[in-house]
Amino acid sequence: MSQGPTHEAAKSAALERNLAEALTLEAHELAGVPEVKVEHASRRGDAEVLIELASVSQRYAGEGAAAGRVALENVNLRVFKGEFVCLVGPSGCGKSTILNLIAGFMQPSDGRVLYKGAPIKGPGPDRAVMFQDHALFPWLTVQRNVEFGLKMANAQERQIRKKHARNYLAMVNMAGHEREYPHQLSGGMRQRVALARSLALESDVLLMDEPFSALDPTTRDMLHEQLQRIWMETKKTIVFVTHSLKEAIRLADRIVLMGSNPGRIRREIAVDIPRPRELNSLALDEINIVLRRELQNEHRPTLPVELPGVEYNI
Ligand SMILES: Nc1ncnc2c1ncn2[C@@H]1O[C@H](COP(=O)(O)OP(=O)(O)OP(=O)(O)O)[C@@H](O)[C@H]1O
Ligand SMILES: [Mg+2]
Repeated sequence: MSQGPTHEAAKSAALERNLAEALTLEAHELAGVPEVKVEHASRRGDAEVLIELASVSQRYAGEGAAAGRVALENVNLRVFKGEFVCLVGPSGCGKSTILNLIAGFMQPSDGRVLYKGAPIKGPGPDRAVMFQDHALFPWLTVQRNVEFGLKMANAQERQIRKKHARNYLAMVNMAGHEREYPHQLSGGMRQRVALARSLALESDVLLMDEPFSALDPTTRDMLHEQLQRIWMETKKTIVFVTHSLKEAIRLADRIVLMGSNPGRIRREIAVDIPRPRELNSLALDEINIVLRRELQNEHRPTLPVELPGVEYNI
C-alpha cells in the first residue's frame, strides 16, 4: 500500500507531539533525545569584522529607581560581514541598547562601538533600522512610504526612486499594493512595507528590533521565509533582536544569548543548519531542545527568575 500525504501528515503530527512532550520534560529526562552538535564559538576564520563592541558598558541617567541603571556591562561582540546574528534574551537585558549603539543613536558610557574599525559617531545610511512597530507614515501610500527613505538619503530622481521602490515592494510580495495606504493593510503587510523601506536603502547592515513579534504565527512564518530568501540574495549583514529562541534558530548563523542584571552576553552559539530552514523541521527542534537543556542545566534553579521573557518553544 502506498504511503500518501495523509500518512505523512499523521507521521509529522506524531513527531510534533513527541517533540512538544519532550520540550516539557526536565533536563535529565531528555537524555534519550539525539545529540546535536552545537558549536559555541564566534570564529569566522579571516572573515571581515564589520561591527565590533569592545568592552562596552552602558549606564542610563534615568530618574528615581532607574537612576544609574546598568543596561550593559562589559559586552564584547563581533559581527562579521554577511553574517546573520540574533540577540536573544529576557526583557531588559539590553538587546535594544546594543542595537541603538550600533545604529549610532547613542554613545556607550564605556568601551567602543566600531563599524569597519572606526568609532560609530551617529546614524548613517550604511545601517538601516527596522523596529517592532512598522512606523509607516499613515498619510503616504505604500509606494511613497518606501520612497521616503530614499528621499532622505538624497537618492536619485523621482522615476528612478519609483522603480527602485517597486522592486523592493515586489521582493517582499507587496506588488500591486503600491497605491494603498497603511490603514488599508494587515499588520503583516505593514511590516513587509517597513521591510521594503529598510531594504530600499541598500545599506550594508540591517538592524531589526523584534520586527515580527506582534504578528500571528502564520504571518511570522511567511516573513521568516521571505527574510531568509532576501538575506541569501542580498548578502546583507543582519543583527536581529528577538525573545524567541526558535525564531533565532530558524534565522541565525549565530545566536548571542544574553542575560540581565546587568545586561551581558552569556554565550554565543553557531547554528549550522542548511537554508532555507523550515519552521517545523526536526533539525531546528533538536537544536531548540539541546539549547534549552543546556540553559536548564546551567541556570537551574534560577531559570524562571533569570529568564522570564524568553520563549523557548513557540
Ligand atoms: N532611556 C532609558 N533611560 C533609562 N533606562 C533605560 C532607558 N532605555 C533602557 N533603559 C534600561 O536599560 C535596560 C535595558 O533596556 P533595553 O531596552 O535595551 O532592553 P531589551 O533587552 O531590549 O528589553 P525588551 O526585550 O523588553 O525590549 C533596562 O533595564 C531598561 O529599563
Ligand atoms: Mg528591546
